[in-house]
Amino acid sequence: MSVDTYKKTAKDFTFPPNLDDYDAARREFTWSRARKELDWFGGHLNAAYNAVDRHTQTWRKNKVALYWEDEAGNEKKYTFEELSLLSNQIGNILKDFGVARGDRVFLFLPRIPELFFGFLGILKIGAIAGTLFSAFQEQALADRLGNSEAKVVITTRELKLRIDKVRKKLPNLKHILVVDEPSFIKSLAHASTELRIAHMDPDDYAFMLYTSGTTGKPKGVMHVHRAILQEHMTAKWALDLRDDDTYWCTADPGWVTGIAYEILGSWSNGVAAFVYAGRFDPKKWYSLLAKYKITVWYTAPTAIRMLMAAGGTLVKTFDLSHLRHLCSVGEPLNPEAIKWSIKVFGRPFHDTWWQTETGAICIANYPCMDIKIGSMGKPIPGLTADIVDDAGQPLGVKKEGNIAMKPKWPSQMHTIWRRPAKFKSYFMNGWYISGDRGWKDEDGYFWFIGRADDVIKTSGERVGPFEVESALVAHPKVVEAGVIGKPDVMRGEIVKAFVVLEPNTKPSEALKKELSEYVKKHLAGHAYPREIEFIDKLPKTRSGKIMRRILKAKEMGLPVGDTSTLEEY
Ligand code: PRX
Repeated sequence: MSVDTYKKTAKDFTFPPNLDDYDAARREFTWSRARKELDWFGGHLNAAYNAVDRHTQTWRKNKVALYWEDEAGNEKKYTFEELSLLSNQIGNILKDFGVARGDRVFLFLPRIPELFFGFLGILKIGAIAGTLFSAFQEQALADRLGNSEAKVVITTRELKLRIDKVRKKLPNLKHILVVDEPSFIKSLAHASTELRIAHMDPDDYAFMLYTSGTTGKPKGVMHVHRAILQEHMTAKWALDLRDDDTYWCTADPGWVTGIAYEILGSWSNGVAAFVYAGRFDPKKWYSLLAKYKITVWYTAPTAIRMLMAAGGTLVKTFDLSHLRHLCSVGEPLNPEAIKWSIKVFGRPFHDTWWQTETGAICIANYPCMDIKIGSMGKPIPGLTADIVDDAGQPLGVKKEGNIAMKPKWPSQMHTIWRRPAKFKSYFMNGWYISGDRGWKDEDGYFWFIGRADDVIKTSGERVGPFEVESALVAHPKVVEAGVIGKPDVMRGEIVKAFVVLEPNTKPSEALKKELSEYVKKHLAGHAYPREIEFIDKLPKTRSGKIMRRILKAKEMGLPVGDTSTLEEY
């Protein structure tokens, strides 16, 4: 296979990169030495303190930490000190409501400033923060708030209506704080700005994120305060953040990228972050890059492909000369997207690979390194990654296998909430098995092949087929459903559902629409099937499990493979 390489030259660097010698760092770096990058309270620490508050002891105190703008053009900005004080106030309000260490407090908010200082406030009192994507509907909310036994939810008037619908299923939910209610605004204004920050054991939980697997309900991935160490170092190495950067991470804190690199690791590096609380729109995005003079940009391949589709003329009408470093995450970054970015921005996108479970970047293309276009790059210093077979044996170069890592790295998930067996199932023969397949080349670059399971990645978002199937089956006209990711040029994959209707219902285009809408309304706005096909019967194993791989093979016109365990086909 011929590979294009983007060779770095002096013109690629405005400054020497933070990580200037990858090989030396691989040899010499240790996590214990990196501890001095952070502030510790003896053997304890607090991730939120490290992200924001410690900067108030330095010249960064009055530096803008957050530039914020919404779709209507409203603008706000906050210094590190303001974020520190506001998060103290939220912490005090939560304490007044009886929130204690280890309690789960969920944020169900759009990307408004309260989401950011709310998250910090939760961590600062030692409670566990959970984030809920604002597209979530009743079922998704009930699953997550129910399983976590959340005590408090912080939300808006509009979003609260969805929680109200499921509140009776949530006996542990004691308080709902509504940030745009006059009573909350008043109590925030009056809350004390003094807070004694909880000194946490590095292994105490800081935040949890629900993510999807192939089967069952979403699982609560638990992250600890220590994770800030890797979030900090990777934001430095891979995102190359510097004090004079204005940095835009386009992810939502409902997902791990928005937590690790829009709150914790990025602010820990003292960077000024920009947050846009609006929908994707090529013209708007370019105008924001220009207006805020964004220097470092972290986004996802679907957005890049959509920008490509918007054409080369539009981009030329904006001054994007401040951009100095571009990164991508969440799904395969196709070579065309990198080549396009070299053409229009004069710089390549740098791919980074990681997962909700890994808590921070694990494999990346670094500014100091040439890019083999299409490769995810190399493991970060301090982490061993490899390709192993299904028995956990390393395979060597140029062999397809499981992308695996040697535990424990600092930001590794600590457990799956109340599901220790599920947590254990990630590990084999001394390796963490990621669920992704790939290979590595003779120079140590890793290449992504695909998921080993049925998890769907649509527009970079992780969707569990079981959740969508369950949502469809809840519709009175649906008997059964099988859901797959169908390859899509723009979105990577789209959610496609195969649906068996109850005998008296006639298939129709209108019904397809109705079912899509149903999932959108009950589960989540981003997880609905964009395509539905009615079929008479689903392929199943003898034990009754839907064989999604057969649905997928059929969809793609591929051989269906071994069907010996099929009930019927
Ligand atoms: O399949 C991989 C894909 O996204 C999965 C993790 O999804 P999530 O937990 O939502 O976290 C996404 C953001 C960290 C992985 O198992 N993925 C992530 N990054 C890449 C990727 N696939 C290909 N290339 C990547 N750079």
